[in-house]
Amino acid sequence: MTEQYDPGRPNLLDRWNGHQAWLDARLAASVDPYFKTTLGKIGPVGTTRMRDGMVRGGVNFASQDYLSLSGHPAIAEAAKQAVDRFGVHSAGSPALMGNSILSVELEQRLAGFLGYDDCTVFATGWAAGYGVIKTLVRPHDYIVIDMLAHASLQEGARNATRNVFSVPHLSNAAVATRVERLRRERPDVGILVVTETVFSMDSDVPDIADLVDICRRLGVTLLVDAAHDIGAIGATGRGFLERQGMVGRPDVLMGSFSKTFASNGGFVASNHAALKLALRTSCGPLTFSNALSPVQAAIVLAAMDIVEADEGRRRRMRLLENATRLRNGLQSAGFELKGEPSAIVPAVLGGTALSRLATRHALEAGALVNLVEHPAVSMNTCRWRLQVMADHSLRQIDDMVGIAALARQKAAGDLHRSDAELDAATRSVGA
Ligand SMILES: Cc1ncc(COP(=O)(O)O)c(C=O)c1O
Repeated sequence: MTEQYDPGRPNLLDRWNGHQAWLDARLAASVDPYFKTTLGKIGPVGTTRMRDGMVRGGVNFASQDYLSLSGHPAIAEAAKQAVDRFGVHSAGSPALMGNSILSVELEQRLAGFLGYDDCTVFATGWAAGYGVIKTLVRPHDYIVIDMLAHASLQEGARNATRNVFSVPHLSNAAVATRVERLRRERPDVGILVVTETVFSMDSDVPDIADLVDICRRLGVTLLVDAAHDIGAIGATGRGFLERQGMVGRPDVLMGSFSKTFASNGGFVASNHAALKLALRTSCGPLTFSNALSPVQAAIVLAAMDIVEADEGRRRRMRLLENATRLRNGLQSAGFELKGEPSAIVPAVLGGTALSRLATRHALEAGALVNLVEHPAVSMNTCRWRLQVMADHSLRQIDDMVGIAALARQKAAGDLHRSDAELDAATRSVGA
């Protein structure tokens, strides 16, 4: 999108005019599927308003509510009680008096759940990832980061030091080679390795056990982002770390509440006692930003009650069954699916034009979807990042598959027609 940004203009605001014109032209052609506004509660079915005011509704695979806790009555009740007891606002940074007894209780409970001594909560997951990297790494240090790690981690890394090495996706061998070389050449610097438990555009999973071994052997620190699987994956909800027998093993674990825990917010957990106060005093997005509100803390605590109960286990099973059914259905309809079953189902559409048209047809036909385009993903792998909920019914999943297949077929027809029209126009000009 920033290709339309003009850095050459001296007026900083005017630089964005081309970007605006480009997005408005897309909107006029009904191929701007971004900035949608939900008009009601988040759930398996939804209604949204597009940027031009057009209202679209239908099966909802565009929201992150993996265990369907957003509309859960126990969570709504916990939020109401927190408002009555604490009001609606944290009213201060955690470094001063912004924490409530609920946020402190949440930090202790999360630490135990995640298998660490300490945990610190943030107002967003973005702040947690960006902030912990900036706190740990100084300009003379080095970062080795998976090339597809989330933007919060990439930006944190690049703002912490110029010494950032981006390594091929999921390649532990590339991490080992790079870190061995750095350790040989620069034995005196700090090195942070950064990855995710499940990647948010590809739903694929690194070998964390191997990465932990590499980092231990070479004496470097490993940070892992578990935003998309904590609470939602694994027999007890401890994510792919649990699946790999690695709970509590990465040096630093961070994550978000915004996918599974029905709230905004994020966390950083570790066994290093000094990190907690370091974050309080020296992490911009925590020190100089108001704390998670008591309402959000109460929501996450109530969500944890469910995640840790048998209800949570049942919801995780339904989520995985739903994700598998959606993957199988789309695969049978000829879509390429990336990664492995998780709440994220990346269905590849291909080139930019086809993917935009297919998204328009899907929205018109009653499926709420999010399109991820190049350069967020590599060329010709534009995709829908479908997000599954525990409460999606089999019927809703099958509807999504049917709409997806039809939308892609219609988009291919549109492209074929416009190619033919272009050919005819060229021939008539030539004649
Ligand atoms: C992998 C990953 N990390 C971090 C974040 C940021 O989380 P939050 O939405 O809580 O700011 C996201 C959310 O988009 C994410 O996908």
